Order: sequence, then C-alpha cells, then structure tokens
Amino acid sequence: MSRNIPLSVPVIKGNEWKYIKECLDSGWVSSVGGFVNRFEDMVAGYAGCKYAVATTNGTSALHVSLVACGIKSGDEVIVPTLTFIATANVVRYCNAEPVFMDCDKDTLCIDTDKLREFLKNSTYRENNITYNSETKRPIRAMVPVHLFGHPSDVDSLLELADAYNIIIIEDATESLGSEYMGRQTGSFGKAGCFSFNGNKLITTGGGGMVVTDDESLAIRIRHLTTQARSDAVEYDHDAIGYNYRLTNIQAAMGVAQMEQIDEFIAVKRKNAELYRDLLDSVKEVDVLWEKDRVKSNFWYITLKMPPDHRKKLMEHLMSKGIQVRPVWKPLHALPVYKNCQAYKTTNAFEAHASCINLPCSVNISVEDIRYVSDNITGYFRGL
Ligand SMILES: Cc1ncc(COP(=O)(O)O)c(C=O)c1O
Repeated sequence: MSRNIPLSVPVIKGNEWKYIKECLDSGWVSSVGGFVNRFEDMVAGYAGCKYAVATTNGTSALHVSLVACGIKSGDEVIVPTLTFIATANVVRYCNAEPVFMDCDKDTLCIDTDKLREFLKNSTYRENNITYNSETKRPIRAMVPVHLFGHPSDVDSLLELADAYNIIIIEDATESLGSEYMGRQTGSFGKAGCFSFNGNKLITTGGGGMVVTDDESLAIRIRHLTTQARSDAVEYDHDAIGYNYRLTNIQAAMGVAQMEQIDEFIAVKRKNAELYRDLLDSVKEVDVLWEKDRVKSNFWYITLKMPPDHRKKLMEHLMSKGIQVRPVWKPLHALPVYKNCQAYKTTNAFEAHASCINLPCSVNISVEDIRYVSDNITGYFRGL
C-alpha cells in the first residue's frame, strides 16, 4: 500500500465547526466580535502576559511590533540567519537593516556566545545607544526565534539586551506552549509574536498574535493594526496604520484550537519521544532534543546527520511517500540579503547541510512514525 505522510497538517476535531457557525449565524464575521476578545484573552492568559492583540498572521505581528517599538529607517535589528524569511523581511518592511547572527549547534536558536562576542567587539556606545562599528548605524532591537519550538538561551538574551540597551521582540511563532525555566516563550521580550498558520501547533487558517506586559505598547499595536483610526465614526487616522486585525471567524477557530492545546502538546512530546527511541540505535542520527530547564513544544522534529547523507536520505524518504523538509538556507545566502552583515555564521550552514524535519502532525499515527523510523534505519543499514 502506498503511503502519503505529510510533514505537518492541522487537526480540527474540537469546537471549530460549532464556533465558526456561531459567527456565521450571528453575522459577526469580520474583525470585531466576541471570539476575537476571547481568543486574545486565552492566548494572553496561556502565555502569562497581560495583553494580547490578534493579527492577520505572524509576519504582521512581528512587523507591527517593530513599528510600535519605534524601529525605523536606518536602524539595525539583530536576527538569526537560520530562520524563516519573515523574521528578516519585517525588518526590511521598516526600512531597517538586519544583522545576521549564527545559530547554536545544539538548539539551532541564535548563538548567544557569538552574539556576546559581536556586541563586545563590533559595537560602540554613545548616549546609551549601541552602534555597529562597521556601519555606524544604531542597533535598536533583536528578534530571537525559538526555532522549531526549542526555547532560545533567554537568560543570556535578556542580559545582553539590558547591557546594550537593545529591545527584544521574540519571534515565538513556532513555540506557543514552550517553556524556559517555567515561563512561556513569548513572555520575556518587550513583545512576543505567535503564528497560527496552517502548519503551526494550533491554527486559525492564517493568523497571529502579539503578547506583551506593556499596556501602552499593546494600545499602540491595537491602534496600528486597525488603520490607526482615531475616531470610530469620522474617518480620522493619526498615523500610517495597517489592516492587520484577525477576523472573528478565524478567532472562533482559534478559541476551539486553544481548548485543545495541552492535549496537542502532550501528543507532540510523545511522538518526539517515540521517534527518539526508535532511532536510538542509528548511530549516524540524532533527534534534536531540549536542554535542561526548558520544555519544547516539539512543533517540528528535527533529525541531524552527517551532511553527505542529508540529500540522499531526503530523496529516499520522499520516494517512500514521506514528506520531509530541510531546515532553511541561511538568509544572508539568499540574493535579497546577500549584502547584509553576517557574523561568523558557520553553524547555520552546517545545520542547513545536515538537518531535516520529519512528519510531525498531531494526528500522525504510531504506525506512521514507525514507518518513517524504519525507513531511516533501513537507509543507514543499507549503506
Ligand atoms: C520563524 C517564523 N517567523 C515568522 C513566521 C511568519 O508567520 P506567518 O506565516 O503566520 O506570517 C513563521 C511561520 O510561518 C516562522 O516560522
């Protein structure tokens, strides 16, 4: 029997139909409505933050956060080079410049040792602003990503942000439910951003959210996401705003998905453990695992191997109906970012050359995990 095991598909088995029908029956389908408020409250409470503002997607959540934090033309923002392109694109949407950092070999999140070295040796201070020695531009913010659900080295990031007066906007788009020393990712920076894209842990089809403890920032973000409308009746707008609000229909789906998040995370962990146990005997591979004192939501399950096998193993698995993907190309290797500064990025190229992500939908069966693992084992035994 031929198989088709997808990388990551949504699981829609709770109150999604019921809540969306309520929107349709009531006529509250657009960006105002009870489900938007409920969804925002649920995510804020879950993440342990005071405020949440729902957005059209994770990209707009990141963009509006940077704008609301004052990032503008001529500023620089530190981002990891190993991430989805949206993390860097939002910097460019502000006409600011990304500065690319390497990833840690174990977590694949931003390498905080190299970041510390860069800030110490390649920047200078004036009036409590950190400037890049090479470009003379101010470094205003950083956007660390909790990659594939694995929390970054948050303590070091907070320490560096404080020492160099740099704002942290967390790209927690992949890490809803992940914890760093008992606190949720997304809750450490000035703002944290989540994504509810179809491939994420929970989905609204497309959607996003900013969480923060800063009331004035939350108000500003809400204002900017609603076209900066300053009067509810007259067409008054006091800034260049955006149409970035999530619809009530999408939020209805979000509420139903949030009701199931603990179950989803428990299943993800079990699946990751099963992969790890089944692949334990294959000495060529390692399943990316969480560090001490953190909890990953195991959004993606990442397999590391010697670089000369990555492409061949991918081809082998795809030929067996198993959808796998490499990790991203380091962003500064892409034509659009080739002129940007990148600091000692060897680990990111190594990760790109040696890692793949395995099928990891919440509803993947034990049988399918065994099938994937058997094919990986078979590939290495057949060498
Ligand atoms: C690391 C990262 N940043 C940003 C985004 C953007 O989120 P969205 O697709 O919801 O715009 C994604 C996901 O797609 C992502 O994986």
